[in-house]
Amino acid sequence: MAKNRSQFICQTCGAVSTRWQGKCDACNEWNTLVEENASTGIGAAPAARSVRKGTPVQLVPLSGSIEEAPRIACGIDEFDRVTGGGFVHGSALLVGGDPGIGKSTLLMQAAAALARKGHSVIYVSGEEAVAQIRLRARRLNAVESNVGLAAETSVENILATLDQGPAPTLLIIDSIQTLWTELAESAPGTVTQVRASAQAMIRYAKKSGACVVLVGHVTKEGQIAGPRVVEHMVDAVLYFEGEGGHHFRILRTVKNRFGATDEIGVFEMSDKGLREVANPSELFLGERNSSSPGAAVFAGMEGTRPVLVEIQALVAQSTLGTPRRAVVGWDSARLSMVLAVLEAHCGVRFAQHDVYLNVAGGYRISEPAADMAVAAALVSSLSGRALSADSIYFGEISLSGAARPVAHSGSRLKEGEKLGFKRAHIPKGSLEGQKTGLAAAEYRDLAELVAAIAAGQSDER
Ligand code: TYD
Ligand code: MG
Repeated sequence: MAKNRSQFICQTCGAVSTRWQGKCDACNEWNTLVEENASTGIGAAPAARSVRKGTPVQLVPLSGSIEEAPRIACGIDEFDRVTGGGFVHGSALLVGGDPGIGKSTLLMQAAAALARKGHSVIYVSGEEAVAQIRLRARRLNAVESNVGLAAETSVENILATLDQGPAPTLLIIDSIQTLWTELAESAPGTVTQVRASAQAMIRYAKKSGACVVLVGHVTKEGQIAGPRVVEHMVDAVLYFEGEGGHHFRILRTVKNRFGATDEIGVFEMSDKGLREVANPSELFLGERNSSSPGAAVFAGMEGTRPVLVEIQALVAQSTLGTPRRAVVGWDSARLSMVLAVLEAHCGVRFAQHDVYLNVAGGYRISEPAADMAVAAALVSSLSGRALSADSIYFGEISLSGAARPVAHSGSRLKEGEKLGFKRAHIPKGSLEGQKTGLAAAEYRDLAELVAAIAAGQSDER
């Protein structure tokens, strides 16, 4: 093989090609191929002199004992819930999110909480200077003596530093995109560098038993830059999300080899750092103005947790040939479907109207269970009749207009009851085997719900 042969690596998906092209054949992204050196680094052919005879490893039975209590809870409940009960020894965790969302703040707080329990933590920052990090720690009230701090970007230097002392319980690398290793010759931030650096840190985790947390910035396309490759390598991937202009943040599990993947943790960003929000429903319903038409409270689920949010609809006479449909926080295809079912099966016409739909508080809903609440909000806005303030809605609507029960009805109803709601508007059959203190109005299809709202009965049923 010729020395110093170049290859071109897609910075989005990691696909390798032998010549430059404008578009990556694997992921169809444009302008993502970058020239990198093929004769070194990950995936390169081994240099002739480094080929050695392997040493045999010992095979063990699957049924052996597990030595230690595998989890270390940091004491921030919302964080521990998302990791599935705490950090796991010898594991690697990726925390992704937009720049400025609060990843460094969250991990600094987790580091301090763990240090307070007597564990050792090392925080390596490649983005900020030591003075900046100290300033933040002081502001967060997180100045703990058990946290070792370093501003460093060289993987070799970091590993040499770590090898000097006993392995820490938790090692935080902020961020993986700033690291570079001499093993790979391409520039820092390229896929090859990110992959090689991540691999080195993950190897350290497995070898030493420390839990390694890698922070990754997400590009504006929504991927962790130098992306998928790192997600495959780590044991768990968490995303820290939030809407600009709103101060709450959601930590979401995307992948977890040691726990469930549908959990969320909710935080609020304050001037003293992130505060846990134990009851998200109160946060999302906080600023509710319940007497205006077009607002319906949806009882949703995030993993095993019920969350109540307000869905707001505005239906206004359109002056355009093609009326506008705008959605924030929900799927626009799903809105079109609900509108089509309302038109086809319930005789409600939107063809001359602009429709705006918004989920309050900047929250995002992905469940089809929101269909009934959306339909109720739309009909309420169109008819100008406010829905009763003490009602919750949930249920899926099929294309035939039938109302379908959804999973976790019991938890949804219980959350509504806990927050002082009096009525639940739900599909027929949702109550099977459930007891609830709420007055239940059950509907076989969407037309029944529309008729009830039009008659002003949605209050009384
Ligand atoms: P940061 O943790 O630096 O974000 P990331 O590491 O994800 O890039 O958070 C930066 C934002 O958080 C910044 O806009 C200011 C805000 N912030 C607060 O509002 N209160 C605080 O106590 C701290 C430390 C940050
Ligand atoms: Mg940061």
